Amino acid sequence: MADKIAVLDFGSQYTQLIARRIREMSVFSEILPPTQPLEAIIAGGYKGVVLSGGPSSVYEDGAPLPPKALFESGIPVLGICYGMQAMGYLLGGHVVPAERREYGKAEIVLQGSSRLLRGVEPEGSGRVTVWMSHGDTVLRPPKGFTALAQTTNCPVAAMADEDRRLYAVQFHPEVVHTPQGQKILDNFLSECGVARTWSMQGFIDTMVDAIRAEVSGQRVLCALSGGVDSAVVAVLVHRAIGDRLTCVFVDNGLLRKGEAQSVVHTFRDTFKMSLIHVDASRRFLDAIRNVTDPELKRKRIGAEFIAVFEDEARKLGDIPWLAQGTLYPDVIESVSFRGPSATIKTHHNVGGLPLKMQFKLVEPLRELFKDEVRRLGELLGLPPEIVWRQPFPGPGLAIRVLGEVTTERLDVLREADAVVQEEVRAAGYERQVWQAFAVLLPIRTVGVMGDFRTYAHVVALRAVMSQDAMTADWARLPYDLLGTISNRIINEVKGVNRVVFDISSKPPSTIEWE
Ligand code: XMP
Repeated sequence: MADKIAVLDFGSQYTQLIARRIREMSVFSEILPPTQPLEAIIAGGYKGVVLSGGPSSVYEDGAPLPPKALFESGIPVLGICYGMQAMGYLLGGHVVPAERREYGKAEIVLQGSSRLLRGVEPEGSGRVTVWMSHGDTVLRPPKGFTALAQTTNCPVAAMADEDRRLYAVQFHPEVVHTPQGQKILDNFLSECGVARTWSMQGFIDTMVDAIRAEVSGQRVLCALSGGVDSAVVAVLVHRAIGDRLTCVFVDNGLLRKGEAQSVVHTFRDTFKMSLIHVDASRRFLDAIRNVTDPELKRKRIGAEFIAVFEDEARKLGDIPWLAQGTLYPDVIESVSFRGPSATIKTHHNVGGLPLKMQFKLVEPLRELFKDEVRRLGELLGLPPEIVWRQPFPGPGLAIRVLGEVTTERLDVLREADAVVQEEVRAAGYERQVWQAFAVLLPIRTVGVMGDFRTYAHVVALRAVMSQDAMTADWARLPYDLLGTISNRIINEVKGVNRVVFDISSKPPSTIEWE
């Protein structure tokens, strides 16, 4: 097992970034709840502990605090922002509540020399730019500590007790707005004496061993959706236990053109997995027949998925484990002490689906971010169309066929959408946009084709740029690309005589139309 660092999450929006920065320096890191008992930290063999930032004040009732004995345990600790205040408070420093929170760019002045700030160089101004965020302020460090830096508003912007290897910074070294932040984290890792041996390849080996040990000879079930997360999990678990993994791919008939075939081909033919392809298109179509209300559509599809999945699982006999592609942003809400460090919409996840069934969960991607999962997928040999698949909603094309969903309307949308995919990919925009897709509107408009008047469907093109889908802006696709897409759809997709481009941002619009 590679050396690792624990990050205690006090609810900062940057907790995930800290863990990630550490991994970027080839050291594995895991995020733990702030209340993690010291015994568990020691038993986990962590070589160092980072206390994250967070929205609380140490003076609030019920403020989350790390176990005080952590500071006497001999494990090096780095407190960041709230983590520094918690450290200062618990060890008897003078911490005062802030009248108002200071947030944003600041410049620190270094004092003396220290192992934590070794190699951090003053810039032209003689100061060092950092991203500051503090509510409470440490006015005087605890006994044994020295102040390492200050700003005008913050007399102790960094502090250390080098004998006990306790370090703290009031600012955020993990964000890019602290240009020399990585150096500081790097110095902390050196103080922890960790071997820098972690790599994605190593992660695969460790995970394969861990999965094998965890499920110890029992069978595992995995629901494949066609998306990258469940695909990576399936391949990882398959590597660990081979045929004891059974994948169930519920084909709801609401996928994009060619997607179902690609999933079946990849997993059954290339990876030689035991894959059950359930063609449940009829069941899903029946479930949403005559339904036009978007929420009802979603509910019916969600319920149908569970029903189909349970039927299949029952046929397979007793399988105690379920493998899921839960990612870090999915788990953070339950890990975080208060306030979501990353907001998620529960209905977006395949997670937790088989409600009535009692499974033990295998979730090997819990600590990873989307781009790390993609890298993992590439290393595991998954094809680019799965690794780079854009986010796709669980209810699929049903929420892009506005109004009533019928086989005919799904077919029209599927063909139009295939043109969008092809052209966006050919123009090199596939990985630049968050999503690009077609929507079939529930209206018809008049057109003219040859000598004939037409009265046919309208397709809307939606393309957005986004970091996390919480906010999004419409993608400024080149006019020529828009023109090609429009021409091709109108010429090639029977029943469409008009294409429009959606130029709304989120908020106030959403990415999907329903
Ligand atoms: P909205 O439309 O809310 O979508 O702006 C935000 C992101 O979530 C995706 N989405 C879903 N994903 N199940 C999913 O797995 C769903 O029910 C669902 N609804 C929306 C959407 O494609 C976008 O990326």
